[in-house]
Amino acid sequence: MTIQIKAQHLSMRYKERVLFHIPQLSIGPNDAIYLKGDNGVGKTTLLKILSGLIKPTTGEVFAPDDSWLKRFFNRAGRKDVIYLHQSPYLFDGTVYQNVVYGIRYEKESPKDKRAQVITALRMVGLETLADEHISVLSGGEKQRVAMARAWILKPSILLMDEPSASLDQESIERLVVMAKDLLSRGSSIVVTSHQKNALTELCRKQWWIKDTTLIESPLLQVITDAKQENNYASSNAN
Ligand SMILES: Nc1ncnc2c1ncn2[C@@H]1O[C@H](COP(=O)(O)OP(=O)(O)O)[C@@H](O)[C@H]1O
Ligand SMILES: [Mg+2]
Repeated sequence: MTIQIKAQHLSMRYKERVLFHIPQLSIGPNDAIYLKGDNGVGKTTLLKILSGLIKPTTGEVFAPDDSWLKRFFNRAGRKDVIYLHQSPYLFDGTVYQNVVYGIRYEKESPKDKRAQVITALRMVGLETLADEHISVLSGGEKQRVAMARAWILKPSILLMDEPSASLDQESIERLVVMAKDLLSRGSSIVVTSHQKNALTELCRKQWWIKDTTLIESPLLQVITDAKQENNYASSNAN
């Protein structure tokens, strides 16, 4: 399982317009990063580059377990770095089918897969809707289905693009439950958002795209007893 990715001299240019040039960045192990920046600065573009969905103009993203063979055959994305789209694409089928899709080729028994899907749906509060067609769900519920589908793949790094935009409180809280679970397993998350919310509150670092570069800074947190209890892996990571 990849727990860290690094990039050097990452830049993106559309025609003569330079979006950003980032000399160096790394994610993980067990990072929680709030990526902020004005509209159009390149947050979505950066997340897509990090997940391997698009190629940067210069630079490359490295994961420690990338063999040349894997890189050669896997240009279109990384399995353990997942990009969660702002308006996720869900296919024509039931809630259950959409979530199980990610693990359809895994070797586990159908019974084990079913158990995983039900666990995921329970975490996002949708277990009673498992057999409903995706079209009857609200926007917030769809976003939760997409999160459950990502969670079930146990990504090392989950990149969440504006996950809270236009979400109800219940849905945001459900996403927080899943994000916390991933963090407690040693995974990393990156969250982009216009404003602070319960998801960005989980973050310990801030990335700010400004003047075509990336500024990293720690995020100070007020540690309450409740938060300490939920404190995620890093203290026992090694
Ligand atoms: N395929 C593309 N061709 C040309 N320009 C693009 C393309 N994709 C994105 N852009 C431009 O790059 C800029 C950054 O986009 P984006 O990464 O979506 O910003 P953000 O997520 O920070 O709002 C925008 O001005 C957008 O119009
Ligand atoms: Mg965006």
